[in-house]
Amino acid sequence: MKVHVDPDRCQGHTLCAMIAPEVFELDDMDGHATPVSEEVPVGFEDKVREAVRSCPEQAISVSER
Ligand code: F3S
Repeated sequence: MKVHVDPDRCQGHTLCAMIAPEVFELDDMDGHATPVSEEVPVGFEDKVREAVRSCPEQAISVSER
């Protein structure tokens, strides 16, 4: 599974990093999220899906390939 955060949509709500701190890190300067790695670590798929649902800006997208 691959994960992407749209930097134009992300408004720094930080929910993604609270749900899956192993996957999303927050930029110290502006608080925007970026994935630690594009490839989601095995076992974190459900947390990433929860983050997708929780982001108020719909900034997170995943692809299963
Ligand atoms: Fe940004 Fe959404 Fe996370 S707005 S910080 S991607 S919860």
